[in-house]
Amino acid sequence: MTRRTVRIAMNGVTGRMGHRQHLVRSVLALREQGGLDLGDGEVLWPEPVLVGRRGHALAELAGRYGLDEWSTDLDAVLADPSVEVYFDAQVTVAREEALRRAIAAGKHVYAEKPAASDLAGALELARSARAAGVRHGVVQDKLFLPGLRKLKRLVDGGFFGHVLSVRGEFGYWVFEGDWQEAQRPSWNYRAEDGGGIVADMFPHWEYVLHELFGPVRSVQALATTHIPRRRDERGEPYAATADDAAYSVLELDGGIVAQINSSWAVRVARDELLEFQVDGTEGSAVAGLRGCRVQHRSVTPKPVWNPDLPAGDSFREQWQEVPDNGEFDNAFKAQWEHFLRHVARGTPFPWDLVAGARGVQLAELALASSAGGRRMAVPELSL
Ligand SMILES: NC(=O)c1ccc[n+]([C@@H]2O[C@H](COP(=O)([O-])OP(=O)(O)OC[C@H]3O[C@@H](n4cnc5c(N)ncnc54)[C@H](O)[C@@H]3O)[C@@H](O)[C@H]2O)c1
Repeated sequence: MTRRTVRIAMNGVTGRMGHRQHLVRSVLALREQGGLDLGDGEVLWPEPVLVGRRGHALAELAGRYGLDEWSTDLDAVLADPSVEVYFDAQVTVAREEALRRAIAAGKHVYAEKPAASDLAGALELARSARAAGVRHGVVQDKLFLPGLRKLKRLVDGGFFGHVLSVRGEFGYWVFEGDWQEAQRPSWNYRAEDGGGIVADMFPHWEYVLHELFGPVRSVQALATTHIPRRRDERGEPYAATADDAAYSVLELDGGIVAQINSSWAVRVARDELLEFQVDGTEGSAVAGLRGCRVQHRSVTPKPVWNPDLPAGDSFREQWQEVPDNGEFDNAFKAQWEHFLRHVARGTPFPWDLVAGARGVQLAELALASSAGGRRMAVPELSL
């Protein structure tokens, strides 16, 4: 076995996603398993170079994980020819500019979603990455969750027959920050700082629907701000200027109708924080982050509407759990492995900046739909 080091500039690693999911559970987890075995006698060894604005926070992180390198000078890191990959998990508004600089410096780039703040910017990034000949990717972690992998397996196995509809329910109560601390950063609730549930979640809905069921052809959404005032990380009150809930209907290729509710102002009575129910002519499924249960046509009971009597059967118990039939790794790490193979070996990686731009496009159209009170067609993107 030979070992090849790949140096990765990681920006935004002091944040929620950058720290836990990308640094610890992906890149450091890969090192703990001895690197990424490329299967041809070579092992890829990721070497993170932590990048950010606050030196003391980076030094503390580096010390905690036994890493040698950190810097507050992005340009100097990008000028270092030994750094091959630039990764970005900064706040959304800071992403586009940093990615542009990384692409100009000839780095392969991998980034959290949304890839940019608007469609024009996302497309420009995709174009410049293509022109520069660098490899590029955008995080689409939900595709690698056990529940959605099982759902994809059902689709691929023809379980549903003809898919009729998809209903997605996402959300939980995000505390306002007054009597209990909010569990999400306050910028998420300020439009001027890149916040909003549509900008945050519609990129996910785009790739989930696209990859499992087909491209989205139209969107109709109603976005709203249910909780207009919150308190920030320092306990200071602020105006929540961004949408915290969105109710949407989307049409997919082939006439599939998807409805997705996204809300940070609902209390959970589901099994999981995100669930999709898929109904098809041959069977139905409910998939969450980890679990997935099904009901086939052959075992579908015949409920009869009669509110005069208590419901006799437990409808929940009439569903069958889909077995794991395999091991599921952390979803972010699974996608990192694909991306690093793509960088090292050029293996296919469909979740690129063009795919990322589709997510930004859907969010933008959903907000336009909400503002104008109309259904928006989703045109196919061309670079
Ligand atoms: N894939 C997912 O499931 C998922 C989930 C949550 C967030 N995200 C995305 O990840 C990104 C980061 O989100 P987060 O929840 O980790 O945010 P966070 O606020 O916890 O972290 C933001 C990071 O960006 C840095 N930063 C850079 N410039 C900044 C600026 N001008 N102001 C404030 N911070 C700045 C912060 O220091 C920090 O390291 C966002 O783009 C978000 O859309 C993705």
